[in-house]
Amino acid sequence: MSIEDKLLKLFEIRNTDNYRAVVITGSGTAANESILSSVVGDKNILILSNGEFGERLYNISKVHNKNTSLLKFDWGEIFDLEKIETYLKDNDVDIISMVHHETSSGRLNSIEDIGALSRIYDTMFIVDCVSSAGAEVIDLEKCNISFCSSSSSKAIGSYPGTSFVIGKKDEFENLKNMPVKTTYLNLYKFYHFISSVSQTPNTPAVPLFFAFEQALLNILDEGVSNRHDHIHNMANLLRMGMKKMGLEFLINEDEMSSVLTTVHIPSHVDLELFKRRLKYKNIIIYDGKGPFKNKVFQVGNIGSITPIEIDFFLDAVKEVLQTFDTAPVLKHVPEFKKK
Ligand SMILES: Cc1ncc(COP(=O)(O)O)c(C=O)c1O
Repeated sequence: MSIEDKLLKLFEIRNTDNYRAVVITGSGTAANESILSSVVGDKNILILSNGEFGERLYNISKVHNKNTSLLKFDWGEIFDLEKIETYLKDNDVDIISMVHHETSSGRLNSIEDIGALSRIYDTMFIVDCVSSAGAEVIDLEKCNISFCSSSSSKAIGSYPGTSFVIGKKDEFENLKNMPVKTTYLNLYKFYHFISSVSQTPNTPAVPLFFAFEQALLNILDEGVSNRHDHIHNMANLLRMGMKKMGLEFLINEDEMSSVLTTVHIPSHVDLELFKRRLKYKNIIIYDGKGPFKNKVFQVGNIGSITPIEIDFFLDAVKEVLQTFDTAPVLKHVPEFKKK
């Protein structure tokens, strides 16, 4: 079974004859740029954004497509479907593009809702699934997704350096007549090579392809839904433990992805010291960016994580929090106050 077949299995595609997958040497951005430079032509593309990675889609599209528009929501904010629908009614939109898991906030945007709008308004739908593939259900068929991109290195669990695009076969075919805006990332060329000679247009990063294939095999051996459940369960353990310490999250748990938790920095905690003290215990947390800078930190739970690693992390955070003067927000565990 090829990498392509494994990818179609990972996405649990029912009508596999209607979909194809191509692998690209390059990180997730290469897959995004390959789609955005190859499928728009002179058409009108609308980017929906509620964070850093939505804005990146906009910036990539602007380089290649003169008719790029942006519907921008605050970072972390839920997409306002009414606003989006009004925009679609009032404007001539051929293509909608968005990020599934907006990694800057941890919010899982609804591909079901936007996919339904793309059907009603008869637009193509493109989704950046870089940080959700391998952890979340992405039903391309149900959500009317024409192309989605992702990377080997996040929830799929391989090394960085390869990415991929999965798309409807007829949409890949249509690319043949589109203006060519890049040579290296020309998506039609990837499709043409995989379908005619089972190869990539240029020298692939062969060792990374082998590693990627093995990571996919690992997920298929475990079972796709078992893998999703495991990641989800680890996120729940992590979140329960942090809530017990009184930590509070940026967004509601049921609106988060299962791979990332964005946590408010308690007001008495100096982030740099917090990070340094955790790093001393071999733990790296991520800073918030943009409007979240110095307001939140982010904890990811992808990779071979078991309850042992979660406990290790929670113990370390608890110890480090105790080194700051005042106890953190305590409303969830009054007994912590007694210490
Ligand atoms: C949602 C999303 N899109 C795109 C990217 C860019 O991917 P890469 O850094 O692999 O090019 C990232 C990286 O974190 C991401 O989270």
